Amino acid sequence: MSKARVAILISGRGSNMEALIRAAQASDYPAEIVGVFSNIPEAAGLETARAHGLATAARHHRDFPTKPAFEAALEAQLTAWGTEYVALAGFMRLLSAEFTTRWQGRLINIHPSLLPLYRGLHTHEQALAAGARDHGCTVHFVTPGMDEGPVIAQARVPVMPGDTPETLAARVLTAEHQLYPEALARLVRGEVVFPG
Ligand code: GAR
Repeated sequence: MSKARVAILISGRGSNMEALIRAAQASDYPAEIVGVFSNIPEAAGLETARAHGLATAARHHRDFPTKPAFEAALEAQLTAWGTEYVALAGFMRLLSAEFTTRWQGRLINIHPSLLPLYRGLHTHEQALAAGARDHGCTVHFVTPGMDEGPVIAQARVPVMPGDTPETLAARVLTAEHQLYPEALARLVRGEVVFPG
């Protein structure tokens, strides 16, 4: 079986990255992880990726004069890895319209809410403040607008009495680790395509 070549972009801990790496270790998983890129050289997830024997690259966005210059370096690395799909996993930089358009249909993200609810940061605080009875996570295609692209898959978790942002985040994160590998597999198998 020829496997789809997937690069992962991170900015931090990388637990979703690790869920993808572990899923891709299965011989029947339809994708392989060809490299992990971070805009934060100290991101803990880079060490985790290296411990799994994966190629990594880090370029701090602040070391580039402009977003296009940063994205040119990112693009060069993706090309060097022979990347076919890009999975954002806690990558906390907004990508330009040029970049997201070039990768349209092959660039996905995981977000810790049931989009279109609670875009941006602090989604668990937002859900609790809204008195939500359930919450969750979304894998979606990336488009120029933040947390806006077409939804690929969602997982729902209950909000429990006494939940704090931390307890709720932990419940959602467990769901993220299940959902992301499933959604990526569906994408690379062609079971889901960018609409339109
Ligand atoms: C995850 O909860 C992910 O959904 C979220 O950041 C966390 C990264 O954790 N992403 C976003 O908020 C993107 N808008 P991880 O580094 O352990 O995967």
